[in-house]
Amino acid sequence: MSTSAPIPVRPPLPSALSGTTAVLVGGSSGIGLAAGVLLRSVGARVVLVGRDPDRLKAAVSRVRGAGPAEDPDDAVLGVAGDGGDERTLAEAFDRAGRIDHVYVTAGGIGGAGPLTGLSADDIRTTLGSGPLRTAFAVARAAATRLPAGGSLTLSSGILVVRPYPGMTVPLSLAGAVETLTKALAVELAPARLRVNTIRYGRIDTPLLRSLPGLDSDDGVAAAGAAAPLGRFGAAEEAAAAALFLMADNYVTGQVITVDGGETLA
Ligand SMILES: NC(=O)c1ccc[n+]([C@@H]2O[C@H](COP(=O)([O-])OP(=O)(O)OC[C@H]3O[C@@H](n4cnc5c(N)ncnc54)[C@H](OP(=O)(O)O)[C@@H]3O)[C@@H](O)[C@H]2O)c1
Repeated sequence: MSTSAPIPVRPPLPSALSGTTAVLVGGSSGIGLAAGVLLRSVGARVVLVGRDPDRLKAAVSRVRGAGPAEDPDDAVLGVAGDGGDERTLAEAFDRAGRIDHVYVTAGGIGGAGPLTGLSADDIRTTLGSGPLRTAFAVARAAATRLPAGGSLTLSSGILVVRPYPGMTVPLSLAGAVETLTKALAVELAPARLRVNTIRYGRIDTPLLRSLPGLDSDDGVAAAGAAAPLGRFGAAEEAAAAALFLMADNYVTGQVITVDGGETLA
């Protein structure tokens, strides 16, 4: 890989993202959708990628609502498909034209279960799918398509450092995403691309609310009351870290934790 000119110094505040374009893989819900709203509100173009076309359509309309009324049609685009599929990613990059930043929140907690209760086939299938597959596919696309000064931001969770039983397979994938972050940061630095990961604590999103006992406001408030700051995080609070990582040209290879202090508790 050839070495580009030094990465430019530019204002590191989120407002500097105005006029840039970000692809949000997993942008139709939760933290990714919140990032879309924040990015559009500071004047960035946004491309959302998600699998469910109806959810994606609703998300495009919500992100569009965060911009000015006279928005051009291509200010917010939706590309339906699997973020681990290179054809979907090629379509997203092609439709967007120039892309400056990519943020991957596609993922979940598939493959959970006690190690001896999972078949070798289950484990192989999970290891080859999910967030790690998506991270690799997106990284390959980003490495060839992002211009110097571009960034890639990935996602993990605090269970990587505070595991509990029955999570060996999904947590191995999340841990691998963190290692991938550092390896890619070194590999892509000569092209002046930056790679970081955000490690979330419990953030109030549709994913969190799919867990037992957390499907209502009361359930979320009651469980969150035991967290160090007395509640779970909001999707916008998690997504704000992504805007920081996109905007600050001197941060790469980092895993930034947004967990309301939960890792310390
Ligand atoms: N919320 C938390 O407390 C928490 C804690 C730790 C880590 N995390 C991690 O943070 C990330 C975001 O979580 P979230 O809470 O925002 O989840 P969410 O509300 O479920 O949103 C996930 C988004 O990703 C999309 N998605 C999932 N798999 C995809 C795929 N293969 N290709 C394209 N899009 C895909 C989903 O849409 P479709 O299903 O329609 O594709 C959805 O838009 C996840 O990786 C999650 O594991 C979250």
